[in-house]
Amino acid sequence: MLDGAERVAVLTGAGVSAESGVPTFRDAQTGLWARYDPETLASPQGFAANPGLVWRWYMHRLALVEAAAPNPGHRALAQLQAQRPDLTLITQNVDDLHERAGSQGVIHLHGSLFRFRCHRCRAPYALRDEDRTAPEPPTCPQCDGRVRPDVVWFGEMLPQRALQAALDAARASHLFLVVGTSGVVYPAAQLPYTAQASGAAIIEVNPAPTPITQIADVHLAGPSGEVLPMLFDAET
Ligand code: OAD
Repeated sequence: MLDGAERVAVLTGAGVSAESGVPTFRDAQTGLWARYDPETLASPQGFAANPGLVWRWYMHRLALVEAAAPNPGHRALAQLQAQRPDLTLITQNVDDLHERAGSQGVIHLHGSLFRFRCHRCRAPYALRDEDRTAPEPPTCPQCDGRVRPDVVWFGEMLPQRALQAALDAARASHLFLVVGTSGVVYPAAQLPYTAQASGAAIIEVNPAPTPITQIADVHLAGPSGEVLPMLFDAET
């Protein structure tokens, strides 16, 4: 299927970074939402209610991702893209492990842990060392608003340019690979359906079944760090 496909698009979720030690969101035992309340930590309401708690949580996640390294799944995807530049990589992840593995032009649907902006006026903010251990978020030098990570929280819009690029890639793809996502958060979860409606075949890589499994042509039930190198015959 890979060899026969003229254009390939890939959608990744938290599962692709699980083998790097970055926790997923919805896994029953280890997922972040099993231990933390998404409304408190990942919504504008939660930030308004307790900005210090939200800030400290994101600084903790930033440090965790900085200490993590790409795994063979990230590397296999980068290697595949090096062989076939038609590949578009779309991720819901806010980490930078795809980039550190060598992937180019990654479309980040849910923003980045490494970018910061004012919650009020949206002005970009350059993180200082002292902000990392501060009990409260920094204040915006432009408007005195609170600085926040430039990630998408519950109830917020996705970055429109990224979403449009992802939709375009899904529609243009002949093969759509879905890796390590529970497929329940929209609009990202719509992408495999959009790709299929435009004629793409769907391959899912995930140890567990998801709503996408029902529409997938192939479900490869295993961890992406093992399955992707085998699938692409990659050296990782
Ligand atoms: P989830 O935590 O919802 O799903 C992770 C998926 O990865 C599950 O289906 C697991 O079975 C699978 N998985 C676990 N280990 C894996 C491995 N080693 N290899 C492959 N798959 C594995 O994460 P997402 O689907 O990414 O949103 O969640 C979507 C969005 O919900 C996130 O981007 C985040 C969250 O709220 C925002 O932050 C806006």
